[in-house]
Amino acid sequence: MLNINNLTVTLGGNKILNGLDLSVPAGEVHAIMGPNGSGKSTLSYTIAGRDGYEPSEGDITLDGESLLEMGPDERAAKGVFLSFQSPPAIPGVATMNFLRTALNAQRKARGEEEMSSAEFLKVFREHAKTVGLSPEKLKRPFNDGYSGGEKKRMEMLQMALFEPRFCIMDETDSGLDIDALRMVGEVVNSLRGPDRGFLVITHYQRLLDYVKPDRIHVLAGGRIVHSGGPELAKELEESGYEQFASEAA
Ligand SMILES: Nc1ncnc2c1ncn2[C@@H]1O[C@H](COP(=O)(O)OP(=O)(O)O)[C@@H](O)[C@H]1O
Ligand SMILES: [Mg+2]
Repeated sequence: MLNINNLTVTLGGNKILNGLDLSVPAGEVHAIMGPNGSGKSTLSYTIAGRDGYEPSEGDITLDGESLLEMGPDERAAKGVFLSFQSPPAIPGVATMNFLRTALNAQRKARGEEEMSSAEFLKVFREHAKTVGLSPEKLKRPFNDGYSGGEKKRMEMLQMALFEPRFCIMDETDSGLDIDALRMVGEVVNSLRGPDRGFLVITHYQRLLDYVKPDRIHVLAGGRIVHSGGPELAKELEESGYEQFASEAA
């Protein structure tokens, strides 16, 4: 499904990602763990196609098709979704209109029928309930005046709504209480399926109690330096990244 080959990304004169290889087959959930500043967000932005995060080497393909020539909106239409570590607010933009427009733009780009207002409202309300955002909150402009936890709930609402083929979650669990964490687990597990892949960036074992990953990778020194099964999260929590970070040097 998602294949990353020899990915090199330079920011401000530093090679943040340096020949990174990673493969996530359809139907699998892979977790990425790694020290602060190791390039986890850089990797997620590069996959999603954020401006300024163009690789100097390597390729990223989704189902064999290179994403690199596509803009972020085209990648989204192909089903690439990024849940931001720090989701931005968009004051002045009505939340439901914004999301319906975004969803219908994606559907249109895929040659699918647009969703009517009534149909949208129905699914939107269902997902809002699942993620625990009140109708009152959702009347506010997009993420405007939301707490950190509420913004993460909004990210999960979008993920449920867009039904992306490939979901990247950049520290969605950071700063969440136990109930919100369980909600994130519910959303991921309800979307899990043979045609969908996940890349879950996290620092904590806790999320992985709710979302059982197929593989865990350690990112250090600009590449994946170690990979293992779900048991690796506990090992990392106990012994830290030091042992693997030195392998990267
Ligand atoms: N736009 C940028 N320009 C220059 N350096 C950047 C930029 N974005 C991130 N960096 C640097 O790249 C490194 C990796 O950052 P990041 O990907 O956010 O790490 P992580 O998400 O693993 O904590 C850091 O040293 C950070 O300062
Ligand atoms: Mg980050």
